[in-house]
Amino acid sequence: MPLVSMRQLLDEAAKGGYGVGAFNVNDMEQIQAIMAAAKETNSPVVIQASRGARAFAQDRFLFHLILAASELYPEIPIAMHQDHGNSFETCKSAIELGYTSVMMDGSLKEDGKTPSSFEENVAVTKKVVDFAHARGVTVEGEIGVLGGIEDGHGAGGSGLEHVTDPDQAVEFAELTGVDALAIAIGTSHGAYKFSKKPDGSVLKMDVLIAIHKRLPNTHLVMHGSSSVPKDLQDIVNQYGGKLKETWGVPVEEIQLGIRNGVRKINVDTDNRLAMTGAIRKVLWTQPEKFDPRDYMKPAREAMQKVVALRMTQFGQAGHAGDYAPISIAEIAKGYADGTLTTQPLVAAK
Ligand code: G3H
Ligand code: 13P
Ligand code: ZN
Repeated sequence: MPLVSMRQLLDEAAKGGYGVGAFNVNDMEQIQAIMAAAKETNSPVVIQASRGARAFAQDRFLFHLILAASELYPEIPIAMHQDHGNSFETCKSAIELGYTSVMMDGSLKEDGKTPSSFEENVAVTKKVVDFAHARGVTVEGEIGVLGGIEDGHGAGGSGLEHVTDPDQAVEFAELTGVDALAIAIGTSHGAYKFSKKPDGSVLKMDVLIAIHKRLPNTHLVMHGSSSVPKDLQDIVNQYGGKLKETWGVPVEEIQLGIRNGVRKINVDTDNRLAMTGAIRKVLWTQPEKFDPRDYMKPAREAMQKVVALRMTQFGQAGHAGDYAPISIAEIAKGYADGTLTTQPLVAAK
């Protein structure tokens, strides 16, 4: 199957009432793990690359590896997504490469660290929407700021410092016409999210529900959604790792989000932990090994297991064959003639 528009993938998820995991990749083994899990569970999927990933793997390597996935798994709808684009230029370069979806994270300035103003965010996101929609490419925006920092990207601090204001979310969606909207409800990137198991009073699920009520047609996105399972932490630490005790986002909270408009769920850290634990185990227990295949194969299998579990928990499992792909050219026409309503319907305040 050709790569599909993320808009189509998320519209279908909204129809079916499920969420779609968006998994970060940096290399071939991670892409293979995701595709094996998608095949095993018959799931549509978003494969996403951060700026750091594009730099690490080099653009064309990563692009062609994801294209290879779409050739090898013609039955699986895949959206290729730029995660946390920091500028119009970053998003433009992804679109020109052939990505079918981009995130313009205008919640931060171009340095990827400093929170921006609402007006700056609207201006840069709208510019990306105009450029992307003319080419049939989906746009995710972000309003509110996540906590944590990954690979130099992020505002740092706890996820509760810049929780999304529902009024601003509605205004932002109206002014920009984004297809999907990442909101800040207390999650943060990376392994160190919470120092105890968070419940409904820590994660601002009420804010999420309020935003969904007022923006029923804008797909909501949960970033920083790794659950940081204890068993994965334990494997890393058992074989020489030094992770401090930490909690992630409980899957039940994500499922509550999915019942209230969350259609895209970003997961990276859980896969990093799974792979690292598997690699550590081989190198610790079999120190004579030096063929990378001896530790990359178990690492790939460990990631496949996590991704397949999340696909089942998010509800996308079983839905790969529900629909035929709409070409990106058709999607572009839909944006141009208004068939694809780019302005979300806003319920009365
Ligand atoms: O947004 C964070 C993702 O986990 C990607 O992280 O920027 O270290 O590649 P990265
Ligand atoms: P985690 O660090 O919780 O996996 O979040 C990943 C993410 O939000 C990527 O954009
Ligand atoms: Zn993120």
